[in-house]
Amino acid sequence: MAYYIQDIQEQFSIVEEEIVEYALNNKIKIGKNGAISDRTYQTIFDFYSKETDDVHKPVLILNGNKIEVKDKPVFESENKRISIFRDDSVNFLKNLPTASVDVIITDPAYSGMNQKLKFGKGKIIGKYSDAGKSDAKWFEEFHDTEENYKAFLKECNRVLKKNRHIYIMFDSYSLLTLAPIVRDVFDVKNILCWDKVNIGLGHYFRRRHEFIMFASKGKRPLNSKNIPDVWRIKRVVASKYPTQKPTEVFELMLKGSAEKDFVVCDPFLGSGSSAIAAIKNNCKFLGCDISEKSISFSKERIEHFLNTQTDIYQKSSLLGNDEAMTKLFGNG
Ligand SMILES: C[S@@+](CC[C@H](N)C(=O)[O-])C[C@H]1O[C@@H](n2cnc3c(N)ncnc32)[C@H](O)[C@@H]1O
Repeated sequence: MAYYIQDIQEQFSIVEEEIVEYALNNKIKIGKNGAISDRTYQTIFDFYSKETDDVHKPVLILNGNKIEVKDKPVFESENKRISIFRDDSVNFLKNLPTASVDVIITDPAYSGMNQKLKFGKGKIIGKYSDAGKSDAKWFEEFHDTEENYKAFLKECNRVLKKNRHIYIMFDSYSLLTLAPIVRDVFDVKNILCWDKVNIGLGHYFRRRHEFIMFASKGKRPLNSKNIPDVWRIKRVVASKYPTQKPTEVFELMLKGSAEKDFVVCDPFLGSGSSAIAAIKNNCKFLGCDISEKSISFSKERIEHFLNTQTDIYQKSSLLGNDEAMTKLFGNG
């Protein structure tokens, strides 16, 4: 007896009586305090997955705009292991079946940083008024109000399987405003620091780092006990996609939490770095971005990588000079 009917309730938000009735009708045994066997859990789980998939058709109005639901991938690799969608992140997640993802690795577009600019005189890349236009340097942002962020986390929790991990990147501002909300939904385990090795812009102290929140749904150990909580990885310079992150940042997340054939999900795909990391780790991948530019970048990058094993948008390793990092990537 590894599970309880409460586990099913949590996944699908249904009342206990409904599950008990289903169990009685199907001659399924429920033990003391609602304990059920692994097999029973799977049977009931499969039943409700089918039921709720139909219910989860999205009707989401974000920032006053009704966003069209696109449930067909705009790109799918020949072996069907990699799919990317053009959609709003919450809509996209709402279209995924419950408990269909093994690890979420994501770097959301936080509008707070750019709208409020509370930390120094940050600069918006390109014209803000161009946001969302296909030739714009900048992109339409995910409006990170508490309400939207909660809806986003709730969907992340629903699609993630039990006993699995999630990694969410934060800048300094969003770490103070939105990161605490993660605790209401996931079990926060640590905050990791991505040390970019060289200093960047910044009004008071020059920025050299970003944060990555590491959390779990249920219990799951890391794959390795030797991963430090500061990751020295240089930034991508002169990228054609303004927020491109090094693939090594996502590779490290997967080194900690993925197994072969795991389904990796990134609802803020950007230039496709997380997808490349998933392929390198023999994982399947589901990604989404609202911007046309992101989709064309990622599509080109993923196809090229699958055909040649070379990354057109990150030509060389960006690992910093650090013994722990070198060992983890198998060069030491
Ligand atoms: C910080 S970037 C991700 C960069 C990515 N990690 C990389 O390495 O290239 C955030 C991405 O979120 C996308 N985005 C903004 N609002 C979105 C929304 N509502 N739904 C999905 N994606 C959105 C932007 O187009 C942008 O590509």
